[in-house]
Amino acid sequence: TPKGSCLESVKIAIDTGYRHIDGAFVYYNEHEVGQAIREKIAEGKIKREDIFYCGKLWNTCHPPELVRPTLEKTLKILQLDYVDLYIIELPMAFKPGDVIYPKDENGKFIYHETDLCATWEAMEACKDAGLAKSIGVSNFNRRQLEMILNKPGLKYKPVSNQVECHPYFTQPKLLEFCRKHDIVIVGYSPLGTSRDETWVNVSSPPLLKDPVLNAIGKKYNKTAAQVALRFSIQRGVVVIPKSFNPQRIRENFQIFDFSLTEKEMKEIEALNKNVRYVELLM
Ligand code: A2P
Repeated sequence: TPKGSCLESVKIAIDTGYRHIDGAFVYYNEHEVGQAIREKIAEGKIKREDIFYCGKLWNTCHPPELVRPTLEKTLKILQLDYVDLYIIELPMAFKPGDVIYPKDENGKFIYHETDLCATWEAMEACKDAGLAKSIGVSNFNRRQLEMILNKPGLKYKPVSNQVECHPYFTQPKLLEFCRKHDIVIVGYSPLGTSRDETWVNVSSPPLLKDPVLNAIGKKYNKTAAQVALRFSIQRGVVVIPKSFNPQRIRENFQIFDFSLTEKEMKEIEALNKNVRYVELLM
């Protein structure tokens, strides 16, 4: 993000009423997120405990001995004492080091063999040390979740699994599995992404142009974005819409003054195309 825009956006978001902030070291703006939170605390607008900050362990930091130092680095950048949630960002490990996307001479990712269960134990230790209030995962499929859930001596279950989730990718099976295990699904790209071709599969049509979402929105005097977000929260999926535009930041928060009928929920569920925008080909 351009310098300062994340700082401004997070401050506007907090003023608007947002409390859950989803960040990561690899977004390279964690220092601005931390600054925004600290400024709002200093202003008396919020207390630290009002904020729910989620940080992420990147692929190059999966070896167990790297987990705590990596979280400590994030806390230093944020200038906070703890994160509310720390999650394993992806279930695959890259070669450890300073290169975030390590590639060989043929442009292929250099992976690293680690045991996800060992990484998880290091995550548990971070919780025990008070550096993370809760721990979770992201982009895990059922098999990967089961590996953790069935780990001998498991101390803490993942509280959440952050995955792509929206009306065109509703994740019915994973949602059901996670519900059964009390794992909250946090849906990323709830608005169908920014459609940045460098990382988004744009062959799937734009979500916010969908006629059903727009027609339902018209009925409630809401936008397709608001209907998409309402749909997710109404089925128990946490949403983390991204916007750097003050008006849209506010718009995305105006979703608590209407509700969708069962029939509308079914109509939107039927839009599922089972196609990801974020393919994560690595
Ligand atoms: P912008 O930052 O200019 O608002 P997702 O949360 O699914 O990743 O989507 C993020 C993209 O959607 C961003 O490009 C963002 O652009 C845009 N966006 C965010 N809120 C809205 C909204 N209410 N209506 C239309 N586009 C939106």
